Amino acid sequence: MNKNVILEVEDLEKTYPSGEKALNRVSVKVHEKEFVAIIGLSGAGKSTLLRCINRLVEPESGKVFLEGVEITSLDPRELRYARRNMGMIFQEFNLVERLTVLQNILTGRLGYTGMVRSIFRQFHKSDIERAVELSEIVGIKPYLHKRADKLSGGQRQRVGIARALIQDPKILLVDEPTSSLDPAIGHDVMDEFHRTAKKLGVPVLVSIHDVNLALEYADRIVAMRDGQKIFEGNTSEVNKEKLSEIYQYEI
Ligand SMILES: Nc1ncnc2c1ncn2[C@@H]1O[C@H](COP(=O)(O)OP(=O)(O)OP(=O)(O)O)[C@@H](O)[C@H]1O
Ligand SMILES: [Mg+2]
Repeated sequence: MNKNVILEVEDLEKTYPSGEKALNRVSVKVHEKEFVAIIGLSGAGKSTLLRCINRLVEPESGKVFLEGVEITSLDPRELRYARRNMGMIFQEFNLVERLTVLQNILTGRLGYTGMVRSIFRQFHKSDIERAVELSEIVGIKPYLHKRADKLSGGQRQRVGIARALIQDPKILLVDEPTSSLDPAIGHDVMDEFHRTAKKLGVPVLVSIHDVNLALEYADRIVAMRDGQKIFEGNTSEVNKEKLSEIYQYEI
């Protein structure tokens, strides 16, 4: 199978000022429509990898290409523009509490530069229609006019997903989307998230704490340990031996 590469990460390195080597020459590829999970113990470097890809954290060396465009060489203005192509969904659902679900989804159209103030300007009718459509796909349409601070954790995470998707991103970078939810709710959110990404054909690179969720939903797995990639392959290749190596326990 010869699928197009959407995201290409080459030899990324990051050392935090504390001297901690969080990424050690990490390379990863994500192909079109692929759902790729990053797994590994706490502190392995999963969040750092995701943040270096869109340069929320600046890597000290290595390259990132998104559809052939080198993200790592862009100047700040070009980077702001390029980030619109990378939908981000974080562990902490950073919604604007006093805005409604609909308004929060629409903030996705503002990119990362938009001010909260500009939310009150007119949005295009087509954006509003798209927001309503996405809310239906992720299962929050009944709450469109509810304020964000009145939502449950699972509902909040779905708003975050719809907000990332309304940008029409070329890829979604997702950090632990379910780790702050009850396991059953987390499973539902992952299920809907996976279905939505596949339906829209958006490739996903997602860090997942719960290895069972990763194995259930991912097409491919990237495993990290102490800042290094120690495995990349199809989910079916992840066996007991691999898991014991990734999570550092004896079988
Ligand atoms: N802002 C920071 N400043 C200094 N060190 C950091 C910073 N962020 C992360 N680190 C260190 O870098 C390493 C990788 O951290 P990272 O957050 O990327 O791991 P993770 O795999 O996402 O872990 P978790 O599963 O707990 O979210 C850890 O040793 C961590 O202590
Ligand atoms: Mg993390």
